[in-house]
Amino acid sequence: MVSLKTSIGGIDLDKPGMVASGIMDETGPSMVRMFSCGAGAVVSKSVGLEPNAGHANPCFTEVDGGYVNAMGLPNPGIELFREEMETATRAGKVVGSIYGAGPEDFSMLAGKMEDYGACAVELNLSCPHAKGYGMEVGTDPSMVKEIVSAVKSAVSIPVWAKLTPNTHILPSIGMAVQEAGGDAVVAINTLKAMVICPEFARPLLSNKFGGLSGSAVKPVGVRAVYDLRTVLDIPIIGVGGISNWRDAAEYIMAGASAFQVGSAIGTVGPEVFGSINEGLSSFMEEYGYPSIGSMTGVAHD
Ligand SMILES: Cc1cc2nc3c(=O)[nH]c(=O)nc-3n(C[C@H](O)[C@H](O)[C@H](O)COP(=O)(O)O)c2cc1C
Repeated sequence: MVSLKTSIGGIDLDKPGMVASGIMDETGPSMVRMFSCGAGAVVSKSVGLEPNAGHANPCFTEVDGGYVNAMGLPNPGIELFREEMETATRAGKVVGSIYGAGPEDFSMLAGKMEDYGACAVELNLSCPHAKGYGMEVGTDPSMVKEIVSAVKSAVSIPVWAKLTPNTHILPSIGMAVQEAGGDAVVAINTLKAMVICPEFARPLLSNKFGGLSGSAVKPVGVRAVYDLRTVLDIPIIGVGGISNWRDAAEYIMAGASAFQVGSAIGTVGPEVFGSINEGLSSFMEEYGYPSIGSMTGVAHD
């Protein structure tokens, strides 16, 4: 068997697949379960300064090729999340995902995640359905630079920035992260989307619009990673529509050093990590790739 070890933005992983933020990662026990299913690390649910109930129901629906959700970042707030982190970090590597309105919020939250034992922080600069947060702060390169710089000065663990595909200046945003000293970028969050119920003649979600995830977004994510690889030197983590080893291989060949899986934990089941790991190592053995690093970005050659 070839090795699936990889190194991204200051973190060494035995397996390249991580749980994406927001799916099976809101409690300590659910994160622990994901390690036993073959995830190399877990990215926590995005956590903010205060408890947040999220948007009212309906906030989630299945569509062809994935889900549209407008959960609205429900979370218990950073103080109460300590307990979940303590449980999860005893079982494996946990990346603390955080969201805020500006540099001060992000720095404070990152410091807490570092205290709680997170191996890295992932800045959610990309949620498409949380007013004043997420992509509203993550589509302005100067704001992104300010936030990443502030967090870099506040913590000593690696800082990853999760980017939105809902912009035509993705490479500039990636460059802003790199120039601010960010250790890696994560692409992509969900695509801004809407579902209308014809019987009720109105949008189905209480928030009207939400974010599309799942296999339908994979070509968008692969393109985003490919574009980012052409301009960035820092590592890229690919996410969006990965449900089998071929999807993961596409992201790696586009330029990703590791990947995350979200929706497929629901559509396939948590065992998706085991089957991706198995399929990827068989493919690498057959096609002569001795490591994830040797396959990263080969589609550019
Ligand atoms: C129900 C749900 C909740 C999510 N919550 C978060 C979140 O809290 N923070 C975040 O950065 N991304 C969140 N995401 C986005 C995922 O982490 C991921 O970027 C996106 O779903 C694309 O990957 P996938 O197609 O594998 O799901 C969420 C996605 C879903 C479906």
